[in-house]
Amino acid sequence: MEVLIDSDWASGSLVDDVRRGLGSHPRRLPPKWLYDDEGSRLFDEITRLPEYYPTEAERRILLDHAADVVATCDATTVVELGSGTSDKTRTLLDAFAAAGRLRRFVPVDVSEQTLRDAAQMLGERYPGLAVEALVGDFTLHLSHLPANEPGAHRLVAFLGGTIGNLYVEERGAFLGALADSLDPGDWLLLGTDLVKPVDRLVAAYHDSAGVTDRFVRNSLAVLNRELGADFDLDAFSYVPFWDGHMERMDLRLRAEAEQHVTVPGAGIELDLAVGEEIHVEISTKFRPDGIRAELAAAGFETVELFTDPGDDFGLTLARLG
Ligand code: SAH
Ligand code: AVI
Repeated sequence: MEVLIDSDWASGSLVDDVRRGLGSHPRRLPPKWLYDDEGSRLFDEITRLPEYYPTEAERRILLDHAADVVATCDATTVVELGSGTSDKTRTLLDAFAAAGRLRRFVPVDVSEQTLRDAAQMLGERYPGLAVEALVGDFTLHLSHLPANEPGAHRLVAFLGGTIGNLYVEERGAFLGALADSLDPGDWLLLGTDLVKPVDRLVAAYHDSAGVTDRFVRNSLAVLNRELGADFDLDAFSYVPFWDGHMERMDLRLRAEAEQHVTVPGAGIELDLAVGEEIHVEISTKFRPDGIRAELAAAGFETVELFTDPGDDFGLTLARLG
């Protein structure tokens, strides 16, 4: 396994994000800071919760259609953005391995240890495959993706519905930057959670075991540890709700008492009023037409939309024109 860039960039970027995000109104934290070791572990626990349907729905689609994806696209390199444990991805890599075509796998994630563990697991499982892990931010470091081999194409897999954690303007910028970093004829396999009845959506982000609450609250623990902040985690309540206008879950932390918080590592102090909220994450849900339109705006032509039998989740195969 090869790690292509090291993660020193991360500490500077956290300071900038915290200054900009927590210093403005509404107060916001980019969700990539949810994934320290503990956050990655909690996300993995979320994927096994009975209420959290997206992981199993996407796994079902991959089991049913990975061979169709491989038959359609001529890639010799698979890049995976926000790869995490690359657990479901093995289904896709198995299908490529069966076709005997795949030479290189490039998982990209901000969570270095999770990435290292996944890359090692994959290296052992696919001995002939070059695994080139990239510790980086998919909103900033797409220019570091390895170039195409001559005459060959890449498939970029962006699974799990992680694109829905970006705000709409961030999605446009991300898809544009992705298109700029690829060559015409390269492929995108994009996982998106689909709009569905509100009770199931809210349950998926307000699970009865409280794991999602711990996952979202952990963002403040990251700031306490990395920047010496003094957030009192117990002084916040977890507020997940469905925004029907924007068609997204909105996950926030609300101050239950007035608080003065210092964040020495970022050189800022905050006065939080009772009821003031920190916007930690959104999780946008999509409709087929919307996915197609957002992709088309960036130059990707939708070739196929695969869904699970319950139409809970969508996996779009698109090609850069
Ligand atoms: N793809 C996996 C994991 C999804 S969790 C799945 O489908 O289950 C989201 C993953 O994206 C985490 O591993 C997190 O560390 C990573 N991530 C979040 N924001 C990121 C960013 N800006 N750049 C790179 N990785 C990011
Ligand atoms: C990674 N991402 C797609 C998850 C989601 O469903 O939006 C993150 C998550 N947040 C809370 N639960 C899961």
